[in-house]
Amino acid sequence: MKFFIDTANLDQIREAQDLGVLDGVTTNPSLMAKEGITGKANIINHYKAICDIVDGDVSAEVIATDYENIIKEGMELAALHKKIVVKVPMIKDGVKAIKHFSSNGIRTNCTLVFSTGQALLAAKAGATYVSPFIGRLDDISTDGIGLIEDIRLVYDNYNFETQILAASIRHSTHILECARVGADVMTGPLSAILALLKHPLTDSGLAQFLADHAKAAGK
Ligand code: G3P
Repeated sequence: MKFFIDTANLDQIREAQDLGVLDGVTTNPSLMAKEGITGKANIINHYKAICDIVDGDVSAEVIATDYENIIKEGMELAALHKKIVVKVPMIKDGVKAIKHFSSNGIRTNCTLVFSTGQALLAAKAGATYVSPFIGRLDDISTDGIGLIEDIRLVYDNYNFETQILAASIRHSTHILECARVGADVMTGPLSAILALLKHPLTDSGLAQFLADHAKAAGK
């Protein structure tokens, strides 16, 4: 399973990249706003800065919601860097735009997906990635991981190549559940990735090893 980090924060992206397990980055307009990145020039420069840090794909989301402008904006984003994947919302004009992009060799991430039907449409349109938001479904007492499982079943039935990018990951258990049900990618916060490291027996075991080593060395 690929690990993407879901942030526009350059320090966190660097930290995840330095860990050596990062496969890409996803952003969205809210995450860009959270970092205070506003205005076209700043947004473009920020995407370029992210591409310079990471080895893998970088999802950059369009703001337009009509076909003509999604195409225009998506082409501009895709031209910024070969790592850019154009993130397009699951709306009617978005599906049309994804079809256009996939027919013209531009990679896409279909975002704001909350149902298997939406994921099926995204795959039919040729999306590179589909982003079901599992945390937001859990927030409304709906089974987010169940959605990933169902999309996996449907995609495997027909060998769709669209990769399931589990988004809106909130914690390390979400990551593990995604791995169990066969998500291709997960995108989450740095905290969820780092939480995978933790186990109290690792900490106590290491403390014991170091203490025994020091004792044997007469320290
Ligand atoms: O990038 C899209 C998605 O991951 C958003 O997550 O935490 O705002 O639901 P969240």
